[in-house]
Amino acid sequence: MENEVLITYAKKAMENAYAPYSRFSVGAALLTREGEIFTGCNVENASYGASICAERCAAMKAVSEGYTSFVKIAVVSDSGEYTYPCGICRQFLAEFMENGSVVLEDKNGKIREYSLAELLPHTFVLLTD
Ligand code: THU
Repeated sequence: MENEVLITYAKKAMENAYAPYSRFSVGAALLTREGEIFTGCNVENASYGASICAERCAAMKAVSEGYTSFVKIAVVSDSGEYTYPCGICRQFLAEFMENGSVVLEDKNGKIREYSLAELLPHTFVLLTD
């Protein structure tokens, strides 16, 4: 899957962003190992802490449909700047992205791609026995 295609899905998802409080719309599109695409947008709430980011929205949709391995995720916002996933989303994605990457685009259509490991070194891992 071309990064440009995934970015197009993310932009489409951004149209559904519900962001009346921050007025910052975000869209995400992730590609699963099986080749399925799941999209998400940020969904805010009057109780601010209940809001969810676009990346976790997409991840929740995928996992709840039985897809738990992601190859890459594209993220865009209406800011025109590269929109890097927040810390919570990085940790959340790490659960489902081994060797996965994050694809970003700015207002000039320039794409940057990072490995998730690069964005979140020393991921928290729960050690149990
Ligand atoms: N947001 C995302 O959806 N993804 C990010 O990576 C950063 C932040 C959302 C959360 C909130 O609705 C708005 O952007 C402002 O923080």
